[in-house]
Amino acid sequence: MEKIAHVREASGAKALLALKCFATWSVFDFMRDYMDGTTSSSLNEVRLGHERFGKETHAYSVAYADYEIDEVVSHADKIIFNSIGQLQRFESQSSGIVRGLRLNPGVSSSSFDLADPARPFSRLGEWDVSKVEPIMDMITGFMIHNNCENKDFGLFDRMLGQIEERFGSLLARAEWVSLGGGIHFTGEDYPIDSFVERLKRFAGDHGVQVYLEPGEASITKSTTLEVTVLDRLYNGKDLVVVDSSIEAHMLDLLIYRESAKISPDQGPHRYMVCGKSCLAGDVFGEFDFRNELKVGDRISIQDAAGYTMVKKNWFNGVKMPAIAIRELDGSIRSVREFSYADYEQSLS
Ligand SMILES: Cc1ncc(COP(=O)(O)O)c(C=O)c1O
Repeated sequence: MEKIAHVREASGAKALLALKCFATWSVFDFMRDYMDGTTSSSLNEVRLGHERFGKETHAYSVAYADYEIDEVVSHADKIIFNSIGQLQRFESQSSGIVRGLRLNPGVSSSSFDLADPARPFSRLGEWDVSKVEPIMDMITGFMIHNNCENKDFGLFDRMLGQIEERFGSLLARAEWVSLGGGIHFTGEDYPIDSFVERLKRFAGDHGVQVYLEPGEASITKSTTLEVTVLDRLYNGKDLVVVDSSIEAHMLDLLIYRESAKISPDQGPHRYMVCGKSCLAGDVFGEFDFRNELKVGDRISIQDAAGYTMVKKNWFNGVKMPAIAIRELDGSIRSVREFSYADYEQSLS
């Protein structure tokens, strides 16, 4: 949070929490002092941002339905349409607030097709300058989200240069530009001074207020998923089964075929840590432990905030992890336990 506050102060950019990544509103009282507000992907998120976070509230969605647009506008300071079609469709309903359009620069830092906003035939934003120019009187700014888990400042800088080249004539007419999320500027060793300088230069050259939409960068390494060993097996490898599931509680591991992280992941005892759902590939990963694991042992799965707590689900009816907050003084406050009633009510 302090790194974000520093970037805001030093560069003049505003930072909005991307609720799609993290929306555990019981910590918003803490985060609010360090950020300028929230950005959203739906009516539900824009409402949550407005009601639970406050400050500046940006609305964005890949597509709004007719029945939700009035409520979206009632919660937002700014609405960013994904397409010219949506902008024109909702022109009158949105005329009372600041409007923008998503641009797709056709370049991205993602090497993973599923998460690449610039993938071929992408629906995420407009890319044809000649189509955008005629609607410039309806908007005052743009959102361009093309970074994805990008830890490489050089790559960010080069892609921003390509954006300036491609969309220079549009940027010259804009008052604000949101550069989206996906920039890991809070990570260790990120050249934060160069980042600040580049943001300032971009803002100065085009005369725009810059926004950032950090999701992952706001909460990296803030959170653990605490699991308990329920069983041990040996099937050619030492396995443990824990009281959680990647499909239910850490879905991105499955989607992106990644291993969970544990720390320190060192020692002579290697185990495959497995989830308790029926999915054969429900595996957190293989890790090295200092001691032999036994039933009842606690394992802390690291870095479990981003795209995790917003995606958890009731697959197999696996018990939902409670949510607890460790305060700055070290004390732990439990804010939510999930019950059978929550499971039942989510179903029908
Ligand atoms: C428009 C937009 N803004 C912000 C974000 C947040 O990205 P991250 O969590 O990688 O910072 C995303 C992620 O998909 C996004 O699509």
